[in-house]
Amino acid sequence: MITKIFDIDQNNIDEDILKEAASLIKNGELVAFPTETVYGLGADGLNPEATKKIYQAKGRPSDNPLILHISNKTMLYNLSDNVNYEAKKLMELCWPGPLTMILKKSSVVPDTVSAGLDTVAIRMPKDKIALKLIELSNTPIAAPSANISGRPSPTRASDVLADMSGRIPMILDGGEADIGIESTVIDLSENIPTILRPGYYTYEYIRTILDNVKLDDALIDDKSIPKSPGQKYKHYAPKAKVEVYVGDKAYEKLLERASEYKNQGLKVGILAFEESIEKFNEYYNLSLGSKKDLTVMSHVLFTNLRKMDANAVDIIIAEGVEDINLGKSIMNRMKKSASGNVYYL
Ligand code: TXA
Ligand code: MG
Repeated sequence: MITKIFDIDQNNIDEDILKEAASLIKNGELVAFPTETVYGLGADGLNPEATKKIYQAKGRPSDNPLILHISNKTMLYNLSDNVNYEAKKLMELCWPGPLTMILKKSSVVPDTVSAGLDTVAIRMPKDKIALKLIELSNTPIAAPSANISGRPSPTRASDVLADMSGRIPMILDGGEADIGIESTVIDLSENIPTILRPGYYTYEYIRTILDNVKLDDALIDDKSIPKSPGQKYKHYAPKAKVEVYVGDKAYEKLLERASEYKNQGLKVGILAFEESIEKFNEYYNLSLGSKKDLTVMSHVLFTNLRKMDANAVDIIIAEGVEDINLGKSIMNRMKKSASGNVYYL
């Protein structure tokens, strides 16, 4: 299969291209599209055969459910019969945007989407191209991140192409995803609202909206089994091994480790903050932006991990951040990409 890529300008959307994409979706095919978080791999969310193709294209385990993306709030009421008070409150403040809500599913949601669970994940993205595509497709679009399972999520169309070339018919290129890490996932199907995956909307922020909200146990200790099936798999992993160091003097440890690895004959890649990056000139290095503005780090993290692979480094040594606010969401990804090799100094 040849994978076609089409450029689309957010501010001047060419509807003819989106109509072609929508007709692929309606015909049960896959289309990768931009969202404000990461690129999604979309299929008609009410068509079981189409959603099966997502699992095949990604190599995704069949027990890992998909998010349904909607373009207006009324679509939600078709997908869940139990839109509770918390859901209404959250969607008022966070939609359209990077928040995914887990609710009891209605009978229209295929088992291939919910992976056999009695709940469904729903999100109304903010990206104008995504919203228009859903609207023209006239169906909720099921979409996981458009990467091969286990790889870093794609934040650029070129990242999608690297993983999906020949596997899907179309990629819509809307430029770099703004946020760069996936949506916050919150489970509202049980008594206490529970954050299963932190994202741009942080635990601290959601607590200002809901009286009672907790973090999934697996986000607090490493031994608990995550409630979100997808969170238990190896994730966000570049080909190189990753080590992360956190603390004011982390860059000193990075320098020490980098020289040890270099002496072993390995090609070292460094991910460091703007404040310390110049110390790493002798290595392949990429900046994470300033420690003072973590939105840059979230924007570049996955892209930088992919650039490290493209430069064939053997080991990636990275500076991490404290586990609070957006830092918690970023470290959730870094811990997985480093298979737990995170050290607090
Ligand atoms: O920002 C995002 O959320 C992106 C864009 C494309 O919207 N999508 C995304 O999808 O990250 P995915 O499939 O890569 O991650 C969805 C996560 C997985 O960890 C999955 O297990 C979890 O949500 N999930 C989906 N349905 C669920 C359910 N019914 N119960 C618990 N977890 C669920
Ligand atoms: Mg994913």
